[in-house]
Amino acid sequence: MSERRYTEQEEALEINSLRRIIAAYANYQDAAERDVKRYERSFKRLPPAHKELLFHLGLKYQRLRWCISMNAAFIMNMLEAFEPPFDMSRYVDDDGHDYPVNMHEHNHADCAHSNERGDCSTVSCARINSPLHEKHDSPKGDAKTRESSVETDHRKDEEDHVAGCFKPAANKLETSQGIGVSCNCNKDTSAAAYCEDKDCSASSAVENGTPRTASLFKLNVPPVDVDKVRCIVRNVVRDWAQEGQKERDECYKPILEELNRLFPNRSKQRPPSCLVPGAGLGRLALEISSLGFVSQGNEFSYYMMICSSFILNHTQEANEWTIYPWIHSNCNSLSDNDQLRPVKFPDIHPSSAGITEGFSMCAGDFVEVYSEESQESAWDAVVTCFFLDTAHNIVEYIEIISKVLKDGGVWINLGPLLYHFADSYGPDDDMSIELSLEDVKKVAYHYGFVMEAENMIETTYTANMRAMMQNRYRAAFWTMRKNASRSKAHKRQ
Ligand SMILES: C[S@@+](CC[C@H](N)C(=O)[O-])C[C@H]1O[C@@H](n2cnc3c(N)ncnc32)[C@H](O)[C@@H]1O
Repeated sequence: MSERRYTEQEEALEINSLRRIIAAYANYQDAAERDVKRYERSFKRLPPAHKELLFHLGLKYQRLRWCISMNAAFIMNMLEAFEPPFDMSRYVDDDGHDYPVNMHEHNHADCAHSNERGDCSTVSCARINSPLHEKHDSPKGDAKTRESSVETDHRKDEEDHVAGCFKPAANKLETSQGIGVSCNCNKDTSAAAYCEDKDCSASSAVENGTPRTASLFKLNVPPVDVDKVRCIVRNVVRDWAQEGQKERDECYKPILEELNRLFPNRSKQRPPSCLVPGAGLGRLALEISSLGFVSQGNEFSYYMMICSSFILNHTQEANEWTIYPWIHSNCNSLSDNDQLRPVKFPDIHPSSAGITEGFSMCAGDFVEVYSEESQESAWDAVVTCFFLDTAHNIVEYIEIISKVLKDGGVWINLGPLLYHFADSYGPDDDMSIELSLEDVKKVAYHYGFVMEAENMIETTYTANMRAMMQNRYRAAFWTMRKNASRSKAHKRQ
């Protein structure tokens, strides 16, 4: 496979974008600390009698700090494991600032479906290096060993886009855990294309670090980026915690059952193939692999890829990590203990999940990666879950889904139509084609799809199951089959 060559400008954009995401992750603790300080300032303004009444809040703020440090510890471990696909010391001027390239951000609404304050409705990217944990003074490496004592203490106290197709830390998976998650998207021209390039992905974050890149962490991280990190934390619950099982049962189970029904006699020698665009943190793609498919997740957010790569490639055992996903909102809590409850993850050891050979996560924009000629009629199934409405042009998504499917292949979709760019009033005037479900289906029929099963499914997206507010979707769920002879688009060509 030939590697796509970046122009200087493109590479600078990618690096700056990735740098920004890493900075957002790396500044998680500081940003969260600022929130706690804000709570404390408000508390201080209370009249003495009210303060006395709410005396316990002082303790809550201390507990919050502990929870934040535990979350930060996980994040720092994740960042340390991340192997940036670029030399991150490039495109920084002598003062440690990014070169002034136009940051075309790939603003992806990963978490626009999420209902909490601070949802990340857009995405861009960044990276890590050595001084991270030093700066944050987080209990690095201790999140695991100290988790039990944390819980005991609590009781005592009263209780953007990734451009290209990369192999996150697949080499690690293959060697240390034997899963062999690799990116096999066979593309020449998409950005990065470092998926097959072990050398490229082998340079570690730490090795890549230079004094210049330390300046990363002095970046003023915009609140929107801080929100994206918090959104990833909630996605961890959706995909990888026991607490997310209900949501997974609502969203992933019907899809898995449908795949199981549609491909009853799966051959172990020649397993059917399934593509999962917008794979998020990778759980659905992994489950599909475990079901006996050659499964490929596609994702373009570095926020997501950094995290999924860590979970998929670096997990040693189930429930290895503990995070406190719900601490960032004081709203709609039944109790402080609910808000501060720990969540262990991953609920399974990914390497032991019975993965089918060929499982891969492919980084890159779905439109860019799968418009490649090599992708035509390449897949037996395409599964989209909470993905269709991330499109600027949903017609283009559907056209590509049709193209990449073999004739007779199936498309299973589950999700709402909360168009991610519907509210973007930015200077860039983002394109956003917002169709009704009826029109989405018409478009699908135009591209040769035939409806086989259709349903509405009630579900949440990264909801806090113990909160007093939860957004529920009536998500469209369908199975369509590609019948090339029915494609009007095909006939026109
Ligand atoms: C709402 S999330 C759903 C994630 C996952 N399917 C789930 O159900 O939890 C949508 C995902 O699609 C990704 N995404 C959006 N546009 C994309 C694109 N053009 N190419 C690849 N991934 C994209 C986002 O980064 C995000 O992770």
